[in-house]
Amino acid sequence: MGKGDVREDNKNSDFEIWTEKYRPKEFSDVLGNDMIVKRVEDLVNSKNIPHLMFAGPAGTGKSSLSLIIVRKLFDDYWRQNYLELNASDERGIDVIREKVKNFARIKSFSGSFKIIFLDEADALTRDAQHALRRTMENYTKTCRFIISCNYLNKIIDPIQSRCSVFRFNLIPKEKIKSLIMKIAKNEKLSIDDNAIDALYESSNGDCRRIVNILQSSSGTSKKIDEKAIYGMLSNARPGEIKQIIEDSLSGKFSSSRSKLLDVMLNQSLNGIDIIKSMQREVWNIDADDNTKLRMIEKLGEAEFRIVEGSDEFIQLESLLASFALLKNAD
Ligand SMILES: Nc1ncnc2c1ncn2[C@@H]1O[C@H](COP(=O)(O)OP(=O)(O)OP(=O)(O)O)[C@@H](O)[C@H]1O
Ligand SMILES: [Mg+2]
Repeated sequence: MGKGDVREDNKNSDFEIWTEKYRPKEFSDVLGNDMIVKRVEDLVNSKNIPHLMFAGPAGTGKSSLSLIIVRKLFDDYWRQNYLELNASDERGIDVIREKVKNFARIKSFSGSFKIIFLDEADALTRDAQHALRRTMENYTKTCRFIISCNYLNKIIDPIQSRCSVFRFNLIPKEKIKSLIMKIAKNEKLSIDDNAIDALYESSNGDCRRIVNILQSSSGTSKKIDEKAIYGMLSNARPGEIKQIIEDSLSGKFSSSRSKLLDVMLNQSLNGIDIIKSMQREVWNIDADDNTKLRMIEKLGEAEFRIVEGSDEFIQLESLLASFALLKNAD
């Protein structure tokens, strides 16, 4: 059973997953990235689409837009004409190739091609990507690929050059707000302005995260305030993060290091969550602008290294050390 079937099965059950309930169904439901949505809609109307590459941050509508494409292209027959694969859980390119082969062998029901959606393609190694490229070539008469990734720079050029590339941006604040209001109204939640701001701050333009936090908070109470949001977040409470930064800046390295470890373990936060919380807190600490700028720079470096796969605790520790050294450098 593909993911598409799970979606439909959820529809009538008592417990609905809100990210499915509120998944955009029409092009006009997709918030943000207006130019992309418009161009994709034009392509669909022309009934002939090239291979597509959707690159950009999580929860911005890449998978949703792909589903809209196939539903518009094939109406009731979309399931027969759509194969959804996830590069990071299909255990290797051979499994992907086998599935593509079996799917492509049977002619499209109601169109001249079928669509294969490959999610998280940046999880594939370079060798696997070269194999994917050959697969794309072999089935190009019968299949179009929609390839989704978070980081375009991890996708080899020969694949990029075979696709029309669309770079998704984070969803702007006012659009995120409108999504929150829509869900609140529909689910009869009362949510105050501070809570909306806290939600936006913690989501960083990721709609999936917004919808998930709203659903989990609503389980506790229909009245959602800032405190409820912070309780739900995989975000350290601002006070704790502030303390970690201030300790390191004032040279209390081992104290800040043990607090960091504490926050990471007790609240099961990952390195990127910590970096994001720190980035927000830098502006609230008592330090001169020059120090703050250098901290932001260091945060950026640490984030890059973590995303590239370095050990997150080592990177955070080194970050705290560099904060401690900043003061000495003055
Ligand atoms: N642009 C958007 N407009 C409205 N809702 C959105 C948008 N993007 C995401 N959502 C919400 O978040 C959920 C997940 O979105 P989707 O699966 O399309 O994200 P994605 O970009 O594919 O993310 P990932 O990179 O993690 O796969 C949707 O079901 C919907 O509830
Ligand atoms: Mg997706």
